[in-house]
This record gives sequence, C-alpha cells and structure tokens, in this order.
Amino acid sequence: MSFLLPKSENRPAQMRGRRVEPATIIAVASGKGGVGKTFMSITLASAFAQAGRRTLLVDGDLGLANIDVQLGIEPETDLAAVVSGWVELEDAVTPVDGGPSRGGFDVLPGRSGSGALAELSSEEVARLAAGLSALALQYDQVIVDLGAGIEANCMRLARAADRVVMVITDEPTSMTDAYAFIKVLKGYAPSVQQVVAINQAMSRAAGQQTYEAISQACETFLGFKPHLAGTVLHDDSVREAIRSQCTLVSSDPSSQPIMDIIGIAQSLLTPRGQELRR
Ligand SMILES: Nc1ncnc2c1ncn2[C@@H]1O[C@H](COP(=O)(O)OP(=O)(O)O)[C@@H](O)[C@H]1O
Ligand SMILES: [Mg+2]
Repeated sequence: MSFLLPKSENRPAQMRGRRVEPATIIAVASGKGGVGKTFMSITLASAFAQAGRRTLLVDGDLGLANIDVQLGIEPETDLAAVVSGWVELEDAVTPVDGGPSRGGFDVLPGRSGSGALAELSSEEVARLAAGLSALALQYDQVIVDLGAGIEANCMRLARAADRVVMVITDEPTSMTDAYAFIKVLKGYAPSVQQVVAINQAMSRAAGQQTYEAISQACETFLGFKPHLAGTVLHDDSVREAIRSQCTLVSSDPSSQPIMDIIGIAQSLLTPRGQELRR
C-alpha cells in the first residue's frame, strides 16, 4: 500500500522523537447518521498509520459503537469495561494490523448497545474526554469517531478535539443536521477548528456544490467559512467492503474512495491556519 503522506522520519525535527505536546485530536462528526463517519475514521487512521504516525482510533459513538464490526475484530475489552471500572483506559486499547509499532494503529473500541456508555453522565463523559487527552500524549494522532446527533455528550467529546471533520453528503437532511452541529459546536467550543469533508459525492462538481451550500450558510449566519478538507466520491465498493467486514483500505487500497481519504489526511496534517482557502 503506498500512501502519499510524509513518513515520520521526513517530518521536521520538532515533530519527531518523544512528544512533549498533546497529539492532534481529530473528531469525525456529522449530525446525521449513516453518512460515512466510521468509514472515514477507519480509513484516516490507516492513512496516518501508513505514514508512520502513531495513531489511536477511538469509538466515540457511545451506545451504538461499530468500529469493531467494520474492522471485523472482536476486542477482548472496550470503553464499556473502562467506564465500569474494570480496566484502565490505556489497557482497553486493541492493536490493529500489528499496532503502531508494526505499521498499524491502536483502537479503543466501544460496545454496541451498552447502557453503561449510552447513559454516561456529563461528569463521566468529561472524565472520559480528559482521559483521552492524557492518552493522546502517547500518540501522534488520535481520531475520535463520534455518534450522530447534537446532544451534550457528543459535544463534550467534540470539545476535546483540536479539529472536527464534518462529514456531509448532498442529502438536505445531512446538510441541515451538519449545519446544526457546526452552529452548536461553534457556540460551545469556539476554539475547535471545524473543517468539512463531502462524502458519497456523485461527481467532483456535485461535491463542490454541496460544500458551497454549507459554507455559504456558515458564512452568512455564523460568520465563518469552514475549510474544505476534501471530497470522497460515491463508490459501491465501500458498501461491499463493510458488508464483508474487510476494510476497503486493506482489500482495495488504490480504490477511489481510499485515494480521496488519503488526500483528506494530507490536508489534515497541514498546520492550523495554513490551509489553502478553497
Ligand atoms: N464513499 C462512499 N460510497 C458509497 N457508500 C458509502 C460511502 N461512504 C459510506 N457509504 C455507505 O454509508 C454507510 C454508512 O457508513 P458509516 O461509515 O457506517 O456511517 P456513519 O458512521 O456516519 O453512520 C456504509 O455502510 C456504506 O454503505
Ligand atoms: Mg458510525
């Protein structure tokens, strides 16, 4: 698999060696469910790992977790065990593809249907977010796959991120839910940078149109224009891969959706404030 991201050894000196600053935490959000957040999160984690970055993928879809299902793994422990007090956060990590030391990444899985996770109090979610920020010190990159919706616990996890990638499709319901998320998060955590990724676009032009619509609304009503991290084309191979619980990034790493998400990963490695305006 050949990714176009810079290898760790090619990164500037201040980015190499023992980390003294927290990892960049990227939360993947959408407002609406079923738009491709989990597919995007898994593929971003693979892309960063292949580029030599120590990467942790966190299932932040509390209560309806399914990263493990898409990855086709059966983890021995998960976040539900952490909140129940059975294991420490860092001990709930499962290596994927050999883990960060062998070119893979770590995953902190959730547990689908877990009442313990779905009904966390605000204090428990704040503690979880603080724990993730501490654990992030051991990684170069942390990806948090958020659940759908704009409820407070989702916002609390989003607030722990440096950047939020809003995954949006051309469906009006996706756009209105994404706008609602962007607006609520802007009020709740103004310092979190929000960028947009268009998924399932039928063409580049259609993806650009969707981006223009959402960014216009943000500029007009919220006073800022979110940067476009990239567009992922619709491709039936995504559904086929998810159905067979074999990630598309391992079964067909040169497929168009994977190449598109590698482009998004490259864009996300650009330091804040230095992105090209699109
Ligand atoms: N680029 C794409 N092309 C085609 N289908 C896609 C694409 N991305 C996602 N999908 C479809 O959307 C479904 C939901 O994806 P998923 O990542 O589980 O969404 P979410 O985490 O937002 O609920 C997938 O099962 C797949 O069928
Ligand atoms: Mg999901």
